[in-house]
Amino acid sequence: MIDHSTIQRILDAADVTEVISDFITLRRRGVNMLGLCPFHNEKTPSFTVSPAKGIYKCFGCGKGGNAVNFIMDHENLTYPEALKWLARKYNIDVVEEEETEEQKLIKDERESLMIVSAFAQKFFTRTLWEENDGRTIGLSYFRERGFRDDILKKFELGYAPDGKTPFTEAAQKQGYKMEFLEKTGLTIKRDDWLRDRFAGRVMFPIHNLAGRIIAFGGRLLKEDPKAAKYLNSPESEIYHKSKVLYGIFQARRDIARTEKCYLVEGYTDVLSMHQAGIENVVASSGTALTSEQIRLIRRFTPNITIIYDGDAAGIKASLRGIDLVLEEGMNVKVLLLPEGEDPDSFARKKGASGFQAFIDENETDFIRFKTNLLLKSAEKDPIAKAKLITDVIRSVAVIPDTITRSVYIKECSKLLDVNEDILYTEIRKQKHKQNDDFRNKENRKQQDRVFKEPETSKPAEEVEAKPTELLIEEMEYLRFLLKHCNSVLYEEEGENPNEFNLVKVGQYMIEEVENDDLVPENELFRQIFYEVKANLMNESFDSWKHFIYHSVAGVSKLATDLLSEKHIESKRWTKAGAYTEKEEDILDQLIPRIINEFKLRKVKLLLDETAQAVILAYEEKKDNLMNEALAKIHNLKQVEKSLADKLGNRTII
Ligand code: CTP
Ligand code: MN
Repeated sequence: MIDHSTIQRILDAADVTEVISDFITLRRRGVNMLGLCPFHNEKTPSFTVSPAKGIYKCFGCGKGGNAVNFIMDHENLTYPEALKWLARKYNIDVVEEEETEEQKLIKDERESLMIVSAFAQKFFTRTLWEENDGRTIGLSYFRERGFRDDILKKFELGYAPDGKTPFTEAAQKQGYKMEFLEKTGLTIKRDDWLRDRFAGRVMFPIHNLAGRIIAFGGRLLKEDPKAAKYLNSPESEIYHKSKVLYGIFQARRDIARTEKCYLVEGYTDVLSMHQAGIENVVASSGTALTSEQIRLIRRFTPNITIIYDGDAAGIKASLRGIDLVLEEGMNVKVLLLPEGEDPDSFARKKGASGFQAFIDENETDFIRFKTNLLLKSAEKDPIAKAKLITDVIRSVAVIPDTITRSVYIKECSKLLDVNEDILYTEIRKQKHKQNDDFRNKENRKQQDRVFKEPETSKPAEEVEAKPTELLIEEMEYLRFLLKHCNSVLYEEEGENPNEFNLVKVGQYMIEEVENDDLVPENELFRQIFYEVKANLMNESFDSWKHFIYHSVAGVSKLATDLLSEKHIESKRWTKAGAYTEKEEDILDQLIPRIINEFKLRKVKLLLDETAQAVILAYEEKKDNLMNEALAKIHNLKQVEKSLADKLGNRTII
C-alpha cells in the first residue's frame, strides 16, 4: 500500500508530456503536443497530449488518460505499480512493507520475470566490479578492448562467474523461484541437471524503452570455433527479440534531439559509438532487421541511417533494410564502412570527431547507394541497366507518400539518365504487381479459411475485410469530404443584388464529381458519398461521428483509417515540426486541388482503358470503333492537359 500523501506527491510531479516523451517523440502543435501513437501502428500522428489538461488522447485508436494511465497501458502495469514507476522516475521515496513470500507469488508473471532479470543484472555487474574473477577476467577483457568505465556503467555490463551454477545458487538463496529463472533462460534445467546459461561470459543486459532489463547477451572471452561467440536469452513473456533494439533506452533522447537514428549490427558497435560521443545509435543484434524494430525507431524519428560492414553480407543486409524502412514511410540513408571494419573498430580508429565527420561525408541516399552499387556493371549493358531500373524502382514503389515518391523519381531520373515518364510507368506496373501480390495473399488466406477451418471457429465479423481498392486521390477526397463538409468554402452572389449564398465544402465537392459523372464504383465510397449528399442540408450533421460509428463495419473502418492515414495534412508536417498553415484555413486552395487531382487520376485511368480499346479494335479490324476510341483519347488528352495545367504540372502517380 502506498499512502495517500505519497500518491498525491507522485501525481503532482508526474508531468504528462515528460512521462510520455520517454517513449515517443512529441512535437508542439498549437497548445497541444502531437506524436505517433505507441498503442497502434500509424504513420501519421494522431496521438495528442494536452499539457494544460494533463491528459493524452489518440484519435486513431481511442486510447487516452493521464500520466498514470499511460504508464499502466504502455508498461502493462497495475495502478500501484505504475505509481511506483513514476515515483522512481521522480525520485520520490515510497515506503512500503517488505514483500512477503505470498505477495511475491501473486505478482504476475511478467513482473516476476523482470524482477529476476533485474536481480541478475545487478549480480553480474557486482561480480564484474567487485569479485576477483570478475575483475581479472571480465573487467580486464573490456578494458583491453578499450572501453571506458563510464561506458561499462552506462550499459550496466557485467560478468557471469564461471562454474556450473554459481548464479543460480545465489538467486535461489535470495528467494527467486526456479520457475522464473528457467523462464528467463538464466538457468537451464533438464530433469535434475542445472546449469547457468551464461557462465564465464561478459554480459550485455538488454533494456526495454522504460529502462528495465528484459534479456541478456553474453559474449565468450576467447575465440572458440566450437562455441557461439554470443549467447542470447531465449524468447520469453518479456523478451520478443523481433521487437527489441539494443541500446534504445540509452539512445532514445538523443534520437529525438538529433532527429536521426543510426542502425548498426552489434552490441559492441553501440558501445563504441557512444564512447565516440555518438549516442543516437541502436543495434538489431543478431536478428535480421524487422518492421517492428523500425516502428520502434519511428516513434522518435523518421530518419534512419544504416551503418553496416562493407562486406558482401553487410551490403545484402543493407539492401534488405532499405526496403523495410521505406515501407514504413521513413527516410533511409546508408553508410558502408571500408571492408573489414565494423563501427566498433572504425570508431576506435577515427576517434570521436573523425567518425562523425566520416558519417556526414559518406552517408548516401538509398537511391544513390543502390545505383552506385549496380551501375558499374550495368553501364555498357542495356539489359543489365533495365534490370537496375526495375530494382531501384521497386524500392521507390513501396514508399507510401506521393510527394516523397515523386522527389525520389526526379533523383532517379537524373542518376540513371532515364525519362521521368518511363519511371512513372514502371512504378505503376510495380504497384499493380504489389497490389496483386497482396490480393493473392489475401485470397489465399480466405481460401485457407474456407478449407481448413470449420465454420464455427471464427465469427463472421472477425473475418478481415477485403482491402479496399480506393486510389489515394479518392481517399484524400473522402477525407476532406468527411472532415470539412459543413465548412463554408466561399460566398456566391445571389440572384438579387446584395444577396449572397454560402457554398459549403460538401456541396461543392459532391457537385463537382457528380456533374462530371465521376463517382467511383467502389461500394464504400458510394455509401459515404451519397450519405453525405443526403445530409447536405442538415446543419447538425456531424460527419465524423456519423461515419466512425457507422453500422456498416467497412464504412466505420474506412472512416477511422482516413483519420489516421498519411494524407494531405502530413505533407505540411515539416521537419522542425512547425506547421505552416492549418488545413481548415486554406480550404479554398486545398479543395479545388483535391478535386483536380481526383479528376486527373480518373482521366489517366480512362486514357489507359481507351488505349486498350484502340489496340483491341485495331486487332479486330473494327475501324469505326478504333476511330471512336481515338477521338476519345484526343478529348481526354485535352482534359488531362487542362487539369495538369491547373495543378501546376505536377505529375501524380
Ligand atoms: N550475434 C549473436 N550471436 C552470434 C553472433 C552474433 O547474437 N553467435 C549478434 C550479436 O548481437 C552481435 C551481432 O550479432 O553483437 C554482430 O555480430 P558480430 O559482428 O560477429 O559481433 P560484434 O558485435 O562485432 O562483437 P565483437 O566485436 O565482440 O566481436
Ligand atoms: Mn566487432
